[in-house]
Amino acid sequence: MSDTDTKIQEAIANPQNMGEMSDADSVGTVGNPECGDMVRMWLKFDEKDGKKVIDKASFQSFGCQTAIAVASMATEMLKGKTVEEAQALDSKDLSAPLGPLPPMKIHCGEMVEGALRDALNGDSEASANEEPSPVAGNTLLGDMNNRVESSGKLKVVTLEEGEEQVL
Ligand code: FES
Repeated sequence: MSDTDTKIQEAIANPQNMGEMSDADSVGTVGNPECGDMVRMWLKFDEKDGKKVIDKASFQSFGCQTAIAVASMATEMLKGKTVEEAQALDSKDLSAPLGPLPPMKIHCGEMVEGALRDALNGDSEASANEEPSPVAGNTLLGDMNNRVESSGKLKVVTLEEGEEQVL
């Protein structure tokens, strides 16, 4: 087993920040049509020294072990980062604690990056003071079920806030 495989096994044995965040300010979802996996990431922001920083991040993943491991690492890494710093992170940065991913697993890290970008883009300054985002309480499983039921097959797209309210 490679060093990276060992680290992935360790990460999924004790994943950090897994689960939806009910008081999130923003949520992002992304998936891969090839493997059918999905990752959703929630972000909660705070202000520090006049800058908007990520107070906490959490994720849900219906994906392979690598995606779960990268998401776990990423949500730890994001704590305390400014939005600008988080935007500068790519999938390589997010998966760096695991070591270099094998070519066939690179998209797993990219999916986590995609969920982060979607969450960062979906954030609005006012969202923390408005009604809670309708997506924040949605589970990824429920969303996937809706998509499977309505389309007959899982179609993976980047979701806009509110778009997934198909109940
Ligand atoms: Fe698709 Fe890992 S195999 S996310």
